[in-house]
Amino acid sequence: MKVLMGPDPSQIYRPDGGKNKEDFRNYTSGPLLDRVYTTYKLMHTHQTVDFVRRKHEEFGAFSYKKMSVMEAVELLDGLVDESDPDVDFPNSFHAFQTAEGIRKAHPDKDWFHLVGLLHDLGKILVMAGEPQWSVVGDTFPVGCHPQKSVVFWDSTFQDNPDTKDPRYCTDYGMYEPHCGLENVLMSWGHDEYMYRMMKFNKFSLPPEAFYMIRFHSFYPWHTGGDYRHLCCPHDLSMLPWVQEFNKFDLYTKSEDLPDVSMLRPYYQGLIDKYCPGVLCW
Ligand SMILES: [Fe+2]
Ligand SMILES: [Fe+2]
Repeated sequence: MKVLMGPDPSQIYRPDGGKNKEDFRNYTSGPLLDRVYTTYKLMHTHQTVDFVRRKHEEFGAFSYKKMSVMEAVELLDGLVDESDPDVDFPNSFHAFQTAEGIRKAHPDKDWFHLVGLLHDLGKILVMAGEPQWSVVGDTFPVGCHPQKSVVFWDSTFQDNPDTKDPRYCTDYGMYEPHCGLENVLMSWGHDEYMYRMMKFNKFSLPPEAFYMIRFHSFYPWHTGGDYRHLCCPHDLSMLPWVQEFNKFDLYTKSEDLPDVSMLRPYYQGLIDKYCPGVLCW
């Protein structure tokens, strides 16, 4: 792993460019595949409607811990995401890589830079004792039949009790056509937790920021093109934002790690502007 140094902020982070786009998210081969598959097998077995509702209750009061955003970023120094076939280094670096990628492409949207830093902070749930299959990875709606673009769709859901429940095992399941993703119960994980945490703590970010964080892991929708039958016009209007965000979330992943100490002051300024102080997690 190389740590890049340099006084010019535009030079601090520079992905190595050694990987082609089609080499990301390979779920058929690779050195991390066993770990990734095991995480998804557990996720797709245990994420049920009842499970998700329990987690909403358990974490909805935000009484786990009080800390600042930067303290949460530092907590992710201790987390390697076991669902990620592309990354085998702590998630805190990924937060800065994503943010710096957005900063380069969208220099005038400082709130968007902050979205990059914030988007995976919900993974601190692992530090709260949650198993990774309940925190990381792609999300999917519970309460209806999983669609084919969900990773490992054909080999991981057979032990999930909801797949045998007549209320949940059709394409619509418990939902009305085009009910809107806001009314869909997503598998529990860092997206929904962080979205709710930002609402609870009244982050002063635009609606697009909340939406991108809430659905950034919903690959079967934003990349797979599935689940359109549950979307309302608002979801389709937000989709380009989620897809724009995804470019940086995915393609800035690189073993070329940024020098976090040089980046921290800029992002602390954004935190002070949009989500200052000690927050409830
Ligand atoms: Fe994420
Ligand atoms: Fe991410």
